[in-house]
Amino acid sequence: MSIPATMRALQQTSTRGPQDMRSITDAPVPSPDRGEVLIRVAAAGVNFADISKAHGTFRGGPQPPYLAGFEAAGEVVAVGAAVTGPRPGTHVIGVGHGAFAEYMVLTAAAAMPVPAGWTGEQALGLVVNWPTALAALKPLGRMAAGETVLVHAAAGATGQAAVTMAKHYGATVIATAAPSKHEAVLALGADHVLDSLDGDLSAEVLRLTGGGGADVVLESAGGATFNASLAAAKPVTGRVVVYGVAGGAAAITNWDLVYKHQVHIIGLNIGVLIQAAPEIFGELISELSALIAAGVLAPAAPTTYDLADGPKALAQLEARATVGKLALRP
Ligand SMILES: NC(=O)c1ccc[n+]([C@@H]2O[C@H](COP(=O)([O-])OP(=O)(O)OC[C@H]3O[C@@H](n4cnc5c(N)ncnc54)[C@H](OP(=O)(O)O)[C@@H]3O)[C@@H](O)[C@H]2O)c1
Repeated sequence: MSIPATMRALQQTSTRGPQDMRSITDAPVPSPDRGEVLIRVAAAGVNFADISKAHGTFRGGPQPPYLAGFEAAGEVVAVGAAVTGPRPGTHVIGVGHGAFAEYMVLTAAAAMPVPAGWTGEQALGLVVNWPTALAALKPLGRMAAGETVLVHAAAGATGQAAVTMAKHYGATVIATAAPSKHEAVLALGADHVLDSLDGDLSAEVLRLTGGGGADVVLESAGGATFNASLAAAKPVTGRVVVYGVAGGAAAITNWDLVYKHQVHIIGLNIGVLIQAAPEIFGELISELSALIAAGVLAPAAPTTYDLADGPKALAQLEARATVGKLALRP
């Protein structure tokens, strides 16, 4: 199969947000450098980080104009120098630059095979949302069977994986989501689901835990919810894993930690974890593979959009109007 010189792609042209993402038809098809492979994108994953990048708030993110998107699955169609695998014809998933396009380059060593029998689209989440959820629960949140885990954005791509895995590991799950999404969250096995816009989330969590609080909080909501998460965590032993700022930055002081919230606050950024603690990432991927083999994690069934409708998909994600994973098909 011949590889064209140019391709369709979505280009982010400003830091004003996803509305300034435009379709182009003449983006150069990248060529794989040493240690890289070129994939023909079957499906690109949409992530909350795409929104942060479009607003210029993702630390170290790309400067416009740039090809948007960073997660994609597809078939390897060319390999750079010194690549021993994956070979052309292999279906892989990975992260890189410019996933909202017909072709994309991935680092060969980090390109993961799509699980046997799955389509690329069904594997979306495997290298971003699922390891983030698992890292938050296990190596960082140190959850144990019988503990209570509070999961925000539980109907989202990362939240659904977190609820599924926390239940599998024997936790009681208190989830938060918009009311229209509660059914989806309960179907995953969550024990309780609260309205994420309820002004008194911490009181509800304390009521559901007999006044004790949650052992682990998966905090991605940010804004005013961050404070509720701190108040909902069990004093002295509660762990609050902070991995998202959807509602904006929120502050905590040393005074708060001494006098108000005697909890463990743990930051998580999966990109930094991959770089700084590759052995932990390797363990996460091994565990995810085992969960897939055991049928705990099922193929994703993302809501799909045409590539050209990417700005619409991002706008819906930003407006809290989506459930589960979103994908763009080039
Ligand atoms: N640190 C990392 O490495 C890492 C990796 C992956 C994801 N994340 C973070 O995990 C979170 C979920 O990401 P995702 O891609 O899976 O998205 P998602 O959960 O599918 O969608 C985001 C959801 O967050 C909830 N939310 C709460 N406050 C919000 C606000 N002020 N604005 C918009 N949404 C808000 C909404 O659910 P309700 O309306 O139902 O409450 C919304 O549907 C994001 O914060 C993301 O940045 C972090």
